[in-house]
This record gives sequence, structure tokens and C-alpha cells, in this order.
Amino acid sequence: MVDRPNKPTALATTPGLPPQPQVNFSHSNSRVSAALPTGESVEILLYGATVISWKNRFGIERLWLSDAAKLDGSKAVRGGIPLVFPVFGTAPDHAASSKLPQHGFARNSRWEFLGKSSSESTSPSDTSVKLDFGLSSATLDDATKSKWPYTFSIIYSVTLTPENLSTSIVVTNDGDQPFEFQTLMHTYLRIDDISKIQVSGLEDSEYVDKVDAAKAKTQSGAISIIGETDRVYTPAKGPSTPVVVSEEGEAVFSIVRDNLKDVVVWNPWTDKAAGMGDFEPKDGFKKMICIEAGSVNGWTTLDPGDAFEGAQTISD
Ligand code: BG6
Repeated sequence: MVDRPNKPTALATTPGLPPQPQVNFSHSNSRVSAALPTGESVEILLYGATVISWKNRFGIERLWLSDAAKLDGSKAVRGGIPLVFPVFGTAPDHAASSKLPQHGFARNSRWEFLGKSSSESTSPSDTSVKLDFGLSSATLDDATKSKWPYTFSIIYSVTLTPENLSTSIVVTNDGDQPFEFQTLMHTYLRIDDISKIQVSGLEDSEYVDKVDAAKAKTQSGAISIIGETDRVYTPAKGPSTPVVVSEEGEAVFSIVRDNLKDVVVWNPWTDKAAGMGDFEPKDGFKKMICIEAGSVNGWTTLDPGDAFEGAQTISD
């Protein structure tokens, strides 16, 4: 190799710009993380394209992740933001999805990292970074394909800004027959004390109470969590009306949705947490609440060539 004494050095960033977002790969390229110059960061496993960490500028973790979560690709991650697709729960009565495991296969599949885009700015507070992940029928394993034989592709994007974290999904039907699906962003929010939590924004909404014989009910007032909670809400207000998690009256999370019509509120409480091998510590249910934006009431039909897009944005 010829050594060039005057070889130009690589330019990491455009001259004159302040520090820009950093993206790194770790754990034998099975994880991607991104950090903003202002200090916020996010970490995603390629397994499931599962967001496993979102920290604010002070390094404080915002997502709950079980101490016993499997991060080696052997099981869906207990915590963070697992992605549910193409079925929510199980659907024994829905012929096309009846063979699929609980919450589908997206959270158990290895996704491809498609790339990053970042907004360069002279002001660090305006910088953001978007990480794109892909999954398609072409890359599914044969066992999964045989359970759900449709031709599809998904682009899942995770965008970090100093103010919020957004996750968005675009599902495209690349085949020649329609398919039906459900999808949901199963977000485990980290809180300080479940007994001090209130969830607002779902007042007057109808919901299915999965811990009370799937009865249809109507929410009156804000939600307090005082036992096992597993509810599928059809919000009465539009997706841009935030679902707000407050702790002792102070808003700690605000979630707005785009084209994700439903919201699941889940806390396993004592017995269910005790029964989950990957849920640790056992009293960790006091430190988490799942607010899950999705489209899970009924099915979304996607015709050949059509695409569905949905997103959530979580802020303080
Ligand atoms: C919620 C469901 O979305 O996910 C609950 O409404 C379920 O019924 C929970 O128990 C956790 O599911 P899993 O498969 O991750 O244990």
C-alpha cells in the first residue's frame, strides 16, 4: 500500500457546526445507540427493533426494563418498546392469524438496520436523529412465513429529539392479495410509584376490560391503577389529544398518536408479575406502566400495493 503523506483526513462533521448526533453499534452489531449533543440517548436491539433505553439529558432512564429481560434474542424483551405485529394478543378465531404466537412475530424477529439521518443544526437544541429498521417477508424464517404467508415490508423509525422520542411504522403490502393486521407499540414507561399515578386523556372513552371478562365499559375521570389493569381503550378524543401520565399531579409523560386509534393501558400487578419468569424485581410493577398506542380493535385491511402508517410521540 502506498502511504500518502498528504492524505486528507476524514471530516466527521461539517466545519463550523457544533457537535452532532452520534450513532454507535455494539454487542457484535446487534444493538444501535444514538446520543444527541444535548445528552439524550436511545438504544435499540435489532432483535424486534426493540427500544430498550431512552435517557433524558441528565442520563435518567425513561423506560422500564425488567432486570430479567432476555436481551440475547431468545425471547421478546420484557420492557422498553416491543413492537406488536401482525396480531395483538392471540386470535384463535381469525383464520389468517390463528397460528401466530402472542403479539405476533415482529418482536421476535431480527430486523435490519437501514440507516440513520440526522438534522444538522447550528443550535444543539435543534438536532435530532432518526434510526430506520426494516423487516420483510423475504427475511422471515420459514417457520414464521408458514404461519403468516403474506408478502410485506415494514419500516420502523425511531426518532430522538431533545424534547421527545417518536416511533413510527410503515407497513406495505408488497403481495398480490390483501391482508389484515393489528399493530401496537408496547411502551413500558418508567415511573416512580404506581400508587401516585394518574392517566388522563382517556376520559369518557369506551374500553374493553380484559381483567373483567372482556366487558365493554366507559371510563369516567382519570385512571388510577389499584390492581391488575389490562384495558383496550377506544379514545373518545382524537389522536392529537395527549394521553398524559401524571405523578403526584405533575405530568411525567405525554403521548400523542398519529393514525393509531387505540390505547392499551397495562399493569400486571402482583400475581401476574409473580408468574412471569422474565419480570424482575417482582415488585417492579410499582415502577412501570404500559401505555400502548396501536390499532388493535378489529383489523386493518391492507390491499396490494397499499401502505399503512402510524406513529407515537412521547414527551415529558
Ligand atoms: C398487553 C396485553 O398489551 O401485553 C396483556 O394487553 C398482556 O394482555 C401484556 O398480558 C404482556 O404480554 P406479553 O406477551 O409480553 O407477556
